[in-house]
Amino acid sequence: MTALENVLYSGMIGEGEAVYEFEHRFAEQFGLSNVLAMASGTAALHVALLECGVQPGDEVVTTSMTAEPTNTTILQVGAIPVFADVDPNTGNLDPVSVEAAITEKTRAILIVHYAGYPVPLAEIRAIADRKGVALIEDCAHALGARYGDAPIGTVGDAAIFSFQAIKHMTTVDGGMLVLRDPTRLRSARKLRWFGLEKGVPRTEVDITQAGYKYNMNNVTATIGLTQLDVIQPAIARHIDNGRFFDAELSNISGLSVVAIEAGSEPSYWLYTLLADDSDAVERCMAGIGVTASKLHRPNHFHSVFAPYRRELPGLDIFYRRLVHIPCGWWVGDDDRERIVTALRKG
Ligand SMILES: Cc1ncc(COP(=O)(O)O)c(C=O)c1O
Repeated sequence: MTALENVLYSGMIGEGEAVYEFEHRFAEQFGLSNVLAMASGTAALHVALLECGVQPGDEVVTTSMTAEPTNTTILQVGAIPVFADVDPNTGNLDPVSVEAAITEKTRAILIVHYAGYPVPLAEIRAIADRKGVALIEDCAHALGARYGDAPIGTVGDAAIFSFQAIKHMTTVDGGMLVLRDPTRLRSARKLRWFGLEKGVPRTEVDITQAGYKYNMNNVTATIGLTQLDVIQPAIARHIDNGRFFDAELSNISGLSVVAIEAGSEPSYWLYTLLADDSDAVERCMAGIGVTASKLHRPNHFHSVFAPYRRELPGLDIFYRRLVHIPCGWWVGDDDRERIVTALRKG
């Protein structure tokens, strides 16, 4: 923990060199360009929407099967979330439903690689291009996943990652914004820092658009730099556990595993199991001291999203069958064997 102690006593704990080094090394390790470290994934999403030109009254086609910040940020910019349906076998947005949800008011499509399993990105990118709308990738669950030859986060006009406490890697709280168009970096940087241009003397600088206090600081960036030293084997372990469960759980009666998008490689933040009786799976796992749960609440169930509710039959099926089991780096060989044995017994 010397690095952390050093930065704490350095007198330079705000945004500075550690943040810029973290941006540089993160981009290098995950094959990304044009990245900005942020205070949270939520802050990154907010700025992504603004940088993609989403304005009050615009529609954003999105998913309800996600953590709430995906959609509260749409409300935050005064836009309208339009919930497209998900594929009942994956929980990810169904391109057919996405296309059907687009109107002349649509400004962006916001996808989530749910639980770390990539969405059909090529199809959704093609829809975005055909309709002339932006594509934003919420990669909060998907650090280290791949789509075809490309690292996740490189197909959208903007993408975000989260380093909140329970993600693949953490800075306690933090996030990363990725912008496809490098010319947008300057304004995104200003939005991250009150609307001020860093480097211009404070007495001369002029705010033309109100920004936010969304920067990462040197302390959290130092935690991030330390995490980058160990993140590749940690993600590899998520993937190894995920593949193990895919192989071992696919032929148990009453259970099915998620259909993986062709050519993609999930990074299995959570292992998604689909069960005829998801409560029974939760009880079975509790019996061996393992927490299994649905984890998320489809966002349209919340009162704040009530005005935007619509029929989502694919999501209904997916959510009824959904149960997440742990597959992270902390799940060892014995743990995963125990999980499989218990599920086989039923
Ligand atoms: C899918 C998804 N999007 C966005 C976020 C927001 O990230 P953060 O908690 O870093 O603000 C999270 C995490 O909470 C998430 O799971």
